Amino acid sequence: MPASVVLGAQWGDEGKGKAIDQLANHSTWTVRFQGGNNAGHTIVLGDTTLKLHQIPSGVSHEHCNLVLGDGMVIDPWVLEEELDKWHALTGERPEGKRLFISERASIILPFHKLYDGADRVVGTTGRGIGPTYRDRTERVGIRFADLRGMVDDTEAIRSQAERMSKQLSTVGVSEGIEASELQSDLRWILERYSDAIRPTGLMVDLALRNGERVLLEGAQGAMLDIDQGTYPFVTSSVTSRANATHGAGIHPGHVDQCFGITKAYTTRVGNGPFPSELPLDEGSGMHMAQVGNEYGTTTGRPRRTGWLDMVALRESNRINGYTGLVVTKLDVLGGLDELRICIGYEMDGRTLHVMPTTSEDLARCSPIYETHPGFPAMPQEDWIAMAEDSRSEGTGFDAFPKVIRDYLVRIEQLAGVSIVSVGVGPDRRASVASKGGPFDLPADEATF
Ligand code: IMP
Ligand code: MG
Repeated sequence: MPASVVLGAQWGDEGKGKAIDQLANHSTWTVRFQGGNNAGHTIVLGDTTLKLHQIPSGVSHEHCNLVLGDGMVIDPWVLEEELDKWHALTGERPEGKRLFISERASIILPFHKLYDGADRVVGTTGRGIGPTYRDRTERVGIRFADLRGMVDDTEAIRSQAERMSKQLSTVGVSEGIEASELQSDLRWILERYSDAIRPTGLMVDLALRNGERVLLEGAQGAMLDIDQGTYPFVTSSVTSRANATHGAGIHPGHVDQCFGITKAYTTRVGNGPFPSELPLDEGSGMHMAQVGNEYGTTTGRPRRTGWLDMVALRESNRINGYTGLVVTKLDVLGGLDELRICIGYEMDGRTLHVMPTTSEDLARCSPIYETHPGFPAMPQEDWIAMAEDSRSEGTGFDAFPKVIRDYLVRIEQLAGVSIVSVGVGPDRRASVASKGGPFDLPADEATF
């Protein structure tokens, strides 16, 4: 069976984790292919919520193998925390049994975090992601595959520590890297993960050839893509479909489905232009932030909020070619008198239907809106009841009132992509799938 790709279609935090969780029930592998612990997703298991940053979102399905793929940068200490929390909650230790770390993935070390901490422009998560990719591009970084040959090579470690200390001094960080500490760090990483470090590309390729279904899990979103996003206010990896297979160590021909996840509105954390942004301290922007609980999972920073931006969504579809859209957090818009959709930008008296290339130009764009009627706020139980009715009666989106259906149809028209699932709350049951579509699946089983 082929591979499915799940991607953020906006600036990250679209709710990819929930979509993966739903699809993982019908897949035997979930592979992260880029990014690191700049990502964050929340998993709800009974009364417990768990914040994960690097463990793929398929973790709560016992049968699902988990891969931290070739294209990732991995913080071994953060991974250990995540694994310990998972163990405390479930008693399971998946590493080396069903969780595997690619030999080709790069290691985030204390140096990278110190270096990232000096960023004052992009508003990075400070987790060392960019500096680790930078070392990889400069071909001086350390990958998991390199550990075995390196741990006893005192000379190589000394020269790495020297390089790191020198680089830190150029960004005004006085703290240096001691060779002895670097050596003991590398030793610990090798010992801690030796069972889990594998040639994961070969494993995923074999699974596909054996007819298994593989999920490729994106992190961040299309507008944060280093090449196609709102540069320089982007992350440091290719977040797009084109990198999903590459970063997993398989070829693009395996993919048959690519889902773009978008909120029913827009959020962004960190700096950079955001044409449909609203003030956070009043009106609809405050409503989205409060009702949507819009705080970053990784840094706890408040997320900036705004109306759904169809210019951005069309750009993201141009790059990724979605076979279906998943709209999340629709319930959050309940209670607003009217809803807006940004259908174009105005820049210097001109109307634009595509994004300008530079962030300077994008910052000068003002949104052109279309206005739609709002719908009332409802308690979570009512949304869940609506979703369950849709499932039991097989009515798909007909379970929604007409104003919601009209809003969704308009998004489909503007995006040129069908909506395959609509999220109406954080609960696993709070999703409505399109009738007969790829998310119209039997309910979850065999989960933790
Ligand atoms: P970095 O990925 O830490 O280098 O941060 C670069 C930019 O991407 C900053 O604006 C971050 O806030 C943003 N970013 C990184 N990861 C995520 C994410 O998972 N969700 C939303 N924004 C993110
Ligand atoms: Mg997130």
